[in-house]
Amino acid sequence: MKLLAFLSLFLLSCSTLERVFVEEDLLKRPPAKRCSECHQKIYREWLKSRHHLAYTSKDFIRTTENYSKLKCLSCHAPHQVEPGKRPALRKVFLKDGVNCAGCHYRGEDLKGFMYGPYKVFSPPHPSKRDKNFTSSLYCSSCHQRTYKEWKEAKVSKSCQSCHMPYLGKDDLIQKFPFDLFHLAKERHSHSFPSLKAKEEDLKITLEGNRLKIVNVGIPHNLPTADHGSPKYYLIVEGKGFIIKRLFTPKLRVLKYKEPLYLEVPSTEELKVSLYRRLSWSKRRELVLSKVLRASPSSVSYQR
Ligand code: HEC
Ligand code: HEC
Ligand code: HEC
Ligand code: HEC
Ligand code: HEC
Repeated sequence: MKLLAFLSLFLLSCSTLERVFVEEDLLKRPPAKRCSECHQKIYREWLKSRHHLAYTSKDFIRTTENYSKLKCLSCHAPHQVEPGKRPALRKVFLKDGVNCAGCHYRGEDLKGFMYGPYKVFSPPHPSKRDKNFTSSLYCSSCHQRTYKEWKEAKVSKSCQSCHMPYLGKDDLIQKFPFDLFHLAKERHSHSFPSLKAKEEDLKITLEGNRLKIVNVGIPHNLPTADHGSPKYYLIVEGKGFIIKRLFTPKLRVLKYKEPLYLEVPSTEELKVSLYRRLSWSKRRELVLSKVLRASPSSVSYQR
């Protein structure tokens, strides 16, 4: 069976023959459901992502006044993504949001290619490698503000390395007989998790009577957004006082490696809590909570 498979693989690799096995509708930007016939696992991940809901989310419908603000629609239902360029609006299957073909297919219908991070042999839809798929520039087409912040942070870690976590080696397709011809490849999660800051991402210390907070781990603003409205809430409780601060992308942010100071009336015993609410969520979640005590060395005495 395998021998037969490899023999036919050899024959098929003559590029003239490749086009014979093309499933033409795949080269006309079908909805994600069609891609799921072979890429089952990736499709299931994408169903969990916000990209899948980008066009149908209640907030999007409300803020675009029921899709009447035309300039808003393109990034939420893209025709094709060319790294670094703002996409145009798709004409079909708008409710699919930011979908597979929108991100991977480029070119005229029938004449284009499926672009991706690898050099593959994919008879149903000819593919081409584009190394931009692993760089932040790819995401910058739509995440323009976050990309700008990321660039200023001057780190080498890409958006994908955090927001498309590595899943190990696995098959890209789960469909017979194609699965016989292909070796497992490195997979990256298409659920595009929003993630959550970890304790070590935020350094909270006392400097005299000031609380110092530094975002040392996340190479973009906290919170960050292009059009959404995520919020952070800082609550500092001490003996006889409580201070609350709201963070939004426009009002106040924790910029990468830039300290934020907050004066406190007393440093005797402080409880610092940070909560967040993502743009699309009604839920307030605890990010971290920490108790600080002024160490003897940080207390200064007046003579
Ligand atoms: C075609 C435009 C487009 C491209 C390209 C794109 N995104 Fe998005 N992304 C969106 C839109 C629109 C949303 C908002 C969806 C919603 O919540 O309604 C979003 C949401 C997200 C979220 C969830 C944010 C939250 O508030 O929870 C993450 C994480 C994300 N994208 C990561 C990425 C990464 C990483 C890349 C690059 C590999 C990328 N995106 C490429 C348009 C895009
Ligand atoms: C009939 C099966 C089939 C369908 C349906 C299908 N694909 Fe594929 N796809 C393949 C095969 C086969 C490969 C190569 C797998 C390998 O080499 O491991 C592949 C590879 C890919 C790659 C990797 C390309 C690269 O260069 O890195 C992408 C991206 C991709 N497909 C996207 C899609 C999208 C988007 C759709 C829906 C429009 C889709 N596929 C529908 C069979 C299919
Ligand atoms: C927001 C854009 C976006 C959407 C939507 C999207 N992809 Fe991808 N896809 C990417 C990027 C970026 C990579 C490269 C990830 C890496 O190598 O770090 C990738 C990688 C892949 C790969 C190579 C294997 C891997 O996991 O790295 C395949 C196959 C693929 N995508 C198919 C699909 C299919 C099928 C869908 C729909 C169910 C889909 N993609 C939706 C951007 C997208
Ligand atoms: C070092 C890992 C890392 C890198 C690199 C990174 N992010 Fe994030 N990102 C995070 C974490 C962690 C969060 C969650 C912050 C929180 O607690 O709300 C986040 C949150 C987000 C959010 C959700 C809104 C918010 O403020 O919570 C978006 C959108 C986003 N990132 C997009 C991007 C894009 C686009 C890039 C590349 C330009 C990128 N990220 C690079 C780790 C990273
Ligand atoms: C250049 C691409 C782009 C354009 C144009 C665009 N958006 Fe977005 N939008 C995004 C990205 C990327 C996100 C995800 C990160 C964030 O929260 O800002 C997003 C997220 C959102 C969200 C939060 C997610 C949700 O579903 O709750 C809303 C609401 C939204 N956009 C509304 C709009 C409105 C209204 C306009 C027109 C004024 C618009 N967008 C135009 C890229 C775009």
